[in-house]
Amino acid sequence: MTTPDPGLFATLYTTRALRRFKPDPVSDEVLFQVLDAAIRAPSGQNAQDWRFIVVRDRALLGDMQRWSATPWQRYLARFGGDASKIDALPRSQRLSLRSVEHLVHHLAEVPVVVLVLGLKGRHSTPGGSTFPAVQNLLLAAHAVGLGGSVFNFPLSHEAELRERLGIPDNNQIYCVLPIGYPTDRHGPLKRRPVKDVVYLERFGERWPFADAQQEAGWQDRWVRNEEDD
Ligand SMILES: Cc1cc2nc3c(=O)[nH]c(=O)nc-3n(C[C@H](O)[C@H](O)[C@H](O)COP(=O)(O)O)c2cc1C
Repeated sequence: MTTPDPGLFATLYTTRALRRFKPDPVSDEVLFQVLDAAIRAPSGQNAQDWRFIVVRDRALLGDMQRWSATPWQRYLARFGGDASKIDALPRSQRLSLRSVEHLVHHLAEVPVVVLVLGLKGRHSTPGGSTFPAVQNLLLAAHAVGLGGSVFNFPLSHEAELRERLGIPDNNQIYCVLPIGYPTDRHGPLKRRPVKDVVYLERFGERWPFADAQQEAGWQDRWVRNEEDD
C-alpha cells in the first residue's frame, strides 16, 4: 500500500467533501488502514460504541441511490425544481451542489460506502462520541489518497436501510460515508475565519489576536501548491 500522506496540518487544511470517484476498487488493506485510524478517536468514557458497516453490495447501493432522490428533490424545490438554476449560484456553491447532484445519480457506482452507527442513549451528547471517528476516517482516507464525504441522503429511507442491514433498534445510524479514489482534488477550504467564531472569555467578545490575522487564516502555511491550483 502506498501512502502519499501529506502531513497532518496539510491534511486538516485541505480535506474537503469529495463526491466524484473513479471506478477503482478500494482494497481491504487500504480500507482497514482507514478504519483502524478511525477507531483511534476518543469517545465518552472510552465507550467505543461506534460500529461501522462496510457496504459494497451493488444492489443495496442502487437502492440507496434511488432513496437519495427524495431529499435531492426536496432540495431542488428551493429552485422551483429546476436544477439548471444551480448554474446561477456563486462558483463554490455551484460546484459543491453539482457534486452533490453527481453523487445522487452515481451512488450505486461508488467503490465503498461506510455507515457509522452508535448506541442510542449511551452518551449525553449524542454524536459527540461518533463524529471524532468520522473525521479521523475522512482524514485517514485523504492520507491514503482517497476521498469521501458525509452523505446522509439515503437515510430518507432509514427504516428500509436498517432492515436490509439488520441494524438492531438500539443502534442509531449517525452517517453514511461514500469513499473512493476521487476525480476531484482535495484543496483549500472555504470557512468563516477564526475571528468570527472564536470568542475571548465571554460569548460575543472579540479576540484581538484573531482580529489581527488575515481573513484566510494560516492556510498558506499548509496548503501545498499542487493542492491549490
Ligand atoms: C453531519 C453532516 C451531515 C452532512 N450531510 C450531507 C449530506 O446529506 N449530503 C451531502 O452531500 N453532504 C453532506 N455533508 C457534507 C457537508 O455538506 C460538507 O462537509 C460541507 O459542506 C463542507 O464541505 P467542504 O469540506 O467541501 O467545504 C454533511 C456533513 C456533516 C458534517
